[in-house]
Amino acid sequence: MSNAPDVKLLGERADTMIRTLGSISAEPNRLFRAFLTPEHRKAADLVAKWMRAAKLDVSEDALGTVRGHWAGESKKRLLIGSHIDTVIDGGMFDGPFGVIAGILAVDHFTQAGRKLPFGIDVLAFGDEEGSRFPTTLTSSMACAGTFDNARLDMADKEGVTLRDAIVAYGKDPAALAEAAYKRGEAAAYVEVHIEQGPVLEYKKQPLGVVTSIAGQSYLNVEFLGEAGHAGTVPMMLRRDALAGGAEVILLAEKMARDTKGDVVATVGQLRIPSAASNVIAGNVALVVDIRSGSNAARQQFVDTFKTEIRAIAKRRELGLTITQTRDVATTPCDQSLQDGIAAAIRSVGGEPLELSSGAGHDGTAMAKLCPIAMMFVRCRGGISHNPAEYTSPSDMGLAVAALIRFIETVKL
Ligand code: GLV
Ligand code: MN
Ligand code: MN
Repeated sequence: MSNAPDVKLLGERADTMIRTLGSISAEPNRLFRAFLTPEHRKAADLVAKWMRAAKLDVSEDALGTVRGHWAGESKKRLLIGSHIDTVIDGGMFDGPFGVIAGILAVDHFTQAGRKLPFGIDVLAFGDEEGSRFPTTLTSSMACAGTFDNARLDMADKEGVTLRDAIVAYGKDPAALAEAAYKRGEAAAYVEVHIEQGPVLEYKKQPLGVVTSIAGQSYLNVEFLGEAGHAGTVPMMLRRDALAGGAEVILLAEKMARDTKGDVVATVGQLRIPSAASNVIAGNVALVVDIRSGSNAARQQFVDTFKTEIRAIAKRRELGLTITQTRDVATTPCDQSLQDGIAAAIRSVGGEPLELSSGAGHDGTAMAKLCPIAMMFVRCRGGISHNPAEYTSPSDMGLAVAALIRFIETVKL
């Protein structure tokens, strides 16, 4: 048997590592690490250094995913991963903790001189947040063998395509197919992640078991009205694209509230290309993020929402384009892996609460490759995608100890 994990020490180590990684940012006063940027490079190098110290063999694939392999007694592998990219002005824990938990768990087995019946790959993905390109989860899709080459032509705000960004990062888009795991090689994927919601804190529990990851639809809505003088055009004669956009934002909020928790909808991005205080907006584009644990509820919401947006455009005499850029089904977590996570949580003194995830995760892409599971860790106030995001060292220590227990007991 291995030595019992030192929960306090694991928590302190995780905290130090989180803060070191959290200091790598594109901007001095807020955290922002986007996919295939110099900050991504620095973060990947740091993760690779930690992996080597834990005796993992490190490689990188064509999308920059850092892959640390720890050999086992068979070719089968347990994949443990999460992401090292962030949203703009994000927190330090969303993503990095899952990677760090994997490294610390392997380090525990390395230090104990243990061999396991399967190998472990710790994966640090770079594209979970979709902060740079109008696509997301490309790194995990490449590992799962589902990356669609059409995504290579998608461009960031500066017009740099994903293909060009891969080359600028020193990688070869032609080698993308090699990132895919071979069938049978990946036995399971497990991810430890902060909850990003308030339930564990409310129930006074440090850890939870994820039952499923919510499905997502993204709608890009663009209104074309007529730009005009703010002082001279009478109100009745205006075709104000921004006023139409405002109606869409409130419609999303009202419709989602009316579902009483089945669906959540958010407009977090609005673009007014020629914005000026004395100009009636001639053109606006907004992105609507719609999520639900139920595919049927999400689909019904999207259908009704599109009909209502068309009615707004007609009433206001606005041109309209609606493009659905994302349509991702709800991803169930594997029952037997969930049972393993629950038992591991009990072994460290927790009561495993079952939670569904409203946030997106790389597990959605990895589920196309192998069974997946997730463990959630309490975060203060449920706050995430915010610099105030915080998980205590003691909860992180418990999470790593539970992950170690899960690895020791899982049958792959
Ligand atoms: C990522 O955190 C997402 O859920 O969009
Ligand atoms: Mn995340
Ligand atoms: Mn996130």
